[in-house]
Amino acid sequence: MMVKLLLVPLFLFLTSLTGVCPRRPRDIGVKTGEMVALHCPDTRYNHSYTRLFWTSYTTKKMDLTSNMSSAEQSQMGILVHKTSLVILNASVNHEGNYSCSLGNASSQFWFRLTVYTSQRKYEEGNMYSETCYTQKSCSLNCPDKNIPAENTPDITSNGITWHKEGESLPETIYFQKVEKNDHGVYTCTRSYLHHGQIYKMTFTVKLDVKLNKECKKSAVITSPRKSVVQVDLGSTVVIDCEAVTCSALDDVIWLIGKSFVEKNNSFPVFYNITQENNTEQIHMTASLVIKKVSDEDISKNYTCKLNSDQVLIVTLSPKPRPSHISLAVGVVGMVVVMVVSVVIYVKFKIDIVLFLRDTLGCHRSTSDGKGYDAFLMYYKSDTNAGLNAYDRNWLRSVLEEKYGYSLCLYDRDVLPGKAVAEAVLDCIEQSRAVVLVPASPDPGPGSGLLSVIHAALVERQTRLVFIKTETTEMSRSGSLPEALQLLGEAGDCVTWKGISSTPPSSSFWKQLRYYLPAPQHAQKQRLLSQTI
Ligand SMILES: *[C@@H]1O[C@H](CO)[C@@H](O)[C@H](O)[C@H]1NC(C)=O
Ligand SMILES: *[C@@H]1O[C@H](CO)[C@@H](O)[C@H](O)[C@H]1NC(C)=O
Ligand SMILES: *[C@@H]1O[C@H](CO)[C@@H](O)[C@H](O)[C@H]1NC(C)=O
Ligand SMILES: *[C@@H]1O[C@H](CO)[C@@H](O)[C@H](O)[C@H]1NC(C)=O
Repeated sequence: MMVKLLLVPLFLFLTSLTGVCPRRPRDIGVKTGEMVALHCPDTRYNHSYTRLFWTSYTTKKMDLTSNMSSAEQSQMGILVHKTSLVILNASVNHEGNYSCSLGNASSQFWFRLTVYTSQRKYEEGNMYSETCYTQKSCSLNCPDKNIPAENTPDITSNGITWHKEGESLPETIYFQKVEKNDHGVYTCTRSYLHHGQIYKMTFTVKLDVKLNKECKKSAVITSPRKSVVQVDLGSTVVIDCEAVTCSALDDVIWLIGKSFVEKNNSFPVFYNITQENNTEQIHMTASLVIKKVSDEDISKNYTCKLNSDQVLIVTLSPKPRPSHISLAVGVVGMVVVMVVSVVIYVKFKIDIVLFLRDTLGCHRSTSDGKGYDAFLMYYKSDTNAGLNAYDRNWLRSVLEEKYGYSLCLYDRDVLPGKAVAEAVLDCIEQSRAVVLVPASPDPGPGSGLLSVIHAALVERQTRLVFIKTETTEMSRSGSLPEALQLLGEAGDCVTWKGISSTPPSSSFWKQLRYYLPAPQHAQKQRLLSQTI
């Protein structure tokens, strides 16, 4: 161990002194009949000041440079230019060792050239290999080992041809998505022209196609296949088409109808692509940008395509305006509110009016100079359902004492001595409303004056409330005297239902009060009723 450790620095010391390194020769193989070039790696070579010497050690040692003319070289099928030695047409005679040096035996570089007569043997030692992965792109390059330097005089490159198992192939071998059965041995031939003669070099490249375990999927668009994008007119819209692929060569494009969208962002509609590579796949997003959406844009079809077989179709639809919704909701709401209000009003009209009148004093107060709120007048009921004396008194007292109406009563308020008709008309004149009350038995004297009343009411437009009994309602209208029928049609009707109508909370009272104008002297009467 110690000895070895000491030997290494000693060896390095010796080589640094002499400049000689016992180099292994470079092994170079060539097929018989083909061209090969040896390149001297001596970096000290300078074309202007130094000369390079080539020596062959084939059948015999031969100085190929110092005392050999180019014609002689040519005859031997060799060509020396600067640092390279080109053997144009290799034969077994060329097999052997070669050296190059700057004329000094102590710094020689060695080559060992083997000339193969059998293709199989040649390929064994000179096979290049390439590995590609399925579904990914793959390209094969023709090796350029031991080829003549580009600027060698009289030698011009005449192109490359490819073959696979005898089959001729295009000039460049490129697979966009390589498949398993693309594997195999590919042969490329480089041709060179020298003095009108073609010289060739062939190389074999073994392509190994491995299953791409990382990315087994084929390229797919991951965005939903068909989609509708809601847009605001006039705004900028970005529609992303997302795809996953195994190859950066997969192309995602956008079309409007059938025309291609530009990637140039100075257009009103364009798209750009972002790629995100992770270890397994490539995530691509092609973002379609519509700078300002118009009505015209909405009518179009937008298609995102990946490798022409994956398609995503997008259509635009204008966003429903929130104002439209709220307007519709508002209108519906208003209609509902109105309907409900109308229903409530129709159902509770009387209660509402009376409530407003009683609690808030909401009513028209007219200073019409009339002394009474209403004139109570009796008419003869043709049945026994009319109000008897007790009911009539009850009606009067509730109206006057509970509700504060000031009433004109014929038998109480009309001064005696007047003609009956005149007195009744006076009462009508002085009252804001006339209440016709069916009476049984007939208390008189009103019944005979009905036609007079009708004329007066029409003339003065005095409000009339016509109290009916249930039986008058049921009996055919023809059974009533004509004057009563006319009055019943002219006024508002309230039905007296006997005993059930007596409580002041009954609907009879509500209706009666509803049809009557509000009492004008309510304040005074209320005070009075409190003292009662
Ligand atoms: C070439 O050199 C090797 C050593 O590097 C030697 O063994 C061989 O005999 C030589 N061949 C000829 C033909 O000189
Ligand atoms: C050969 O090389 C040695 C050492 O590298 C040097 O001393 C000698 O002068 C060289 N001879 C020629 C002819 O260049
Ligand atoms: C984009 O389009 C504008 C206007 O058409 C043009 O001037 C510009 O050169 C284009 N740019 C590219 C990168 O194509
Ligand atoms: C694509 O264009 C949009 C809009 O101009 C921009 O915001 C976004 O950054 C662009 N993306 C790329 C990757 O250029």
